[in-house]
Amino acid sequence: MADKKIKTVGVLGAGLMGSGIAQVAAQSGYTTKVRELSDALCQKGRSSIEKSFNKAIEKSKGKVTEADRDVALKRLHFTPSLGDLADCDIVIEAVVEDLEVKNSMWRELDALCPEHTIFASNTSSLTIAAMAAATARADRVVGLHFFNPVPVMKLVEVVRTVTTSEHTFRRAFDFAASLGKEPIAAKDNSGFVVNLLLVPYLVDAINALERGVASVEDIDKGMKLGTGYPMGPFTLLDFVGLDTTYKIAEIMFDEYREKRYAPPPLLKRMVLAGMYGRKSGKGFYDYSVDPPRVNDLGL
Ligand code: CAA
Ligand code: NAD
Repeated sequence: MADKKIKTVGVLGAGLMGSGIAQVAAQSGYTTKVRELSDALCQKGRSSIEKSFNKAIEKSKGKVTEADRDVALKRLHFTPSLGDLADCDIVIEAVVEDLEVKNSMWRELDALCPEHTIFASNTSSLTIAAMAAATARADRVVGLHFFNPVPVMKLVEVVRTVTTSEHTFRRAFDFAASLGKEPIAAKDNSGFVVNLLLVPYLVDAINALERGVASVEDIDKGMKLGTGYPMGPFTLLDFVGLDTTYKIAEIMFDEYREKRYAPPPLLKRMVLAGMYGRKSGKGFYDYSVDPPRVNDLGL
């Protein structure tokens, strides 16, 4: 198969992660095509990238300039049509953590994209094998797991499943490095390296809260000041998204059948109530006030 230099990057989804991935791809010189479900969601994705660029300019003390932003924004194209991603050399999916939603797109793209196109998933907890099996290019399916917030976090886990070719793995690894990231190799086990260790910690924090060990604020303060974590577990849960964390924990629990991954009942109740964390304005904290204050959950 003809090898082609990666020039055009496709990104599926422009939520928390997709918008960050698209930003770094465009910043790194790639023509970047982002697919969202509607024109309104495309517009929302573009404006969150603009905001993030402005934050980078403000925080970076001259490392990111307005000229860099304007050049990168010109490389970004938004579309509600999957067909517009047919000429991409790599497609990275960052849509909701749901195997069927992801696979329905992979099946469609499999018929549209040329042979050399790599399919990469940013999944937190699904296996890459479960997506590779939905395509006729299982050797060209790989995991590229970025961390939130993508423009700031250096790590990318590059995941090789049983069918991924060495050539695809290498190309994906080099691509992650070309985005200015530090890639590590991980096996295709649910949660890879980081979430395998992080998810039980987040689940434990919610269980500790339900058992009345300490308040939200004190558990957060304890882990920040006692271990030097940049955020306490509840601030981090709200940051990742409670809807996403719930799905991740359920998928990992289903995979391993181990209690430490089981989503706590409180998490489920909050998701049912539409408390998704920062993105919906309420989670363990209430973001309608500045600074955010602890949300009264009636515990
Ligand atoms: N674009 C580019 N660069 C940006 C930026 C942006 N939008 N915003 C900030 N930066 C840069 C700044 O210029 C700064 O760079 P230097 O260090 O070179 O000066 C750096 O990023 C830090 O910026 P801030 O001062 O704004 O950052 P902060 O000190 O307020 O920290 C934080 C914010 C990075 C989010 C920090 O609180 C943190 O690390 N929190 C924990 C995040 C975490 O754990 N993420 C992983 C979640 S789990 C996951 O992602 C996996 C999963 O599958 C669920
Ligand atoms: P999110 O809810 O912020 O965004 C998901 C986006 O996907 C939404 O904007 C939605 O409109 C869009 N979408 C849904 N179906 C689509 C489709 N068929 N085509 C195009 N867009 C579609 O979620 P997120 O936090 O960005 O998570 C996305 C993926 O990244 C998930 O697999 C998640 O597990 C993973 N992830 C999340 C984090 C995190 O901290 N939130 C970190 C690493 C990986």
